[in-house]
Amino acid sequence: MSLENYIRDIQDFPKEGILFKDITPLLNNAEATQECLQILVKSLNGHQINKVVGAESRGFLFGMLLAQELNAGFVPVRKPKKLPYETVSVTYDLEYGTDTLEIHKDAIQKGDKVLIHDDVLATGGTAKAVCELVEKLGGEIVQLNFLMELKFLNGREKLNGYDIFAVLTY
Ligand code: PRP
Ligand code: MG
Repeated sequence: MSLENYIRDIQDFPKEGILFKDITPLLNNAEATQECLQILVKSLNGHQINKVVGAESRGFLFGMLLAQELNAGFVPVRKPKKLPYETVSVTYDLEYGTDTLEIHKDAIQKGDKVLIHDDVLATGGTAKAVCELVEKLGGEIVQLNFLMELKFLNGREKLNGYDIFAVLTY
C-alpha cells in the first residue's frame, strides 16, 4: 500500500472548512512509519547532521526517530513556558494574532549542522520561526523536511534559500 493510504482526511477539523490530514494511521503502522523514515533519511543524500530540531508537538514524532537514525541529538522547539531551562524565543504573525516558539539556549552550538523536521508545511509560519531560533543560536540549517507539504498554502515562499523536502505533497 502506498504511503498516501496511511494519511486520513478529516473534513471540518479542527474548524469548519478545513480538511485535516491525520497522520495517526501512519504512526499506527510500523512498516509505513519505517518506510517514511527511510525516505526522509535518503533525502539528505548523506549530508552529516548533528542536531534534529522538531516543532511541538507533531514534529516530535518523526523528529526523534530521525535523530536516532542519523546519530544526532534531538532538540525540541516548544510553545511558550514549557521548557524548563533558559530559552531563546521568536514571535511570529498568524492570520489573527501572534504565536511564540522557544528553544533552550544551549541546545545548539555554533556551526552545528541542523535538520529541522515537522509533520506538515502549511503557511510556513512555524518552520520560519524554527529557522530563526536555530540561526539565533548559530546553527547551520542543512534541510527542512516534512511528511507533507500543502502546496496551495505557499509555505515555501516564506522559506526562500533553504533546502526543503516533503515525502507527500497535496
Ligand atoms: C501544525 C503542524 C505544523 C504547523 C504547520 O501544528 O503540525 O507544526 O501547524 O502550519 P504552518 O506551516 O502554517 O505554520 P499545530 O500548531 O496545529 O500544533 P501541533 O503540532 O501541536 O498539533
Ligand atoms: Mg505542529
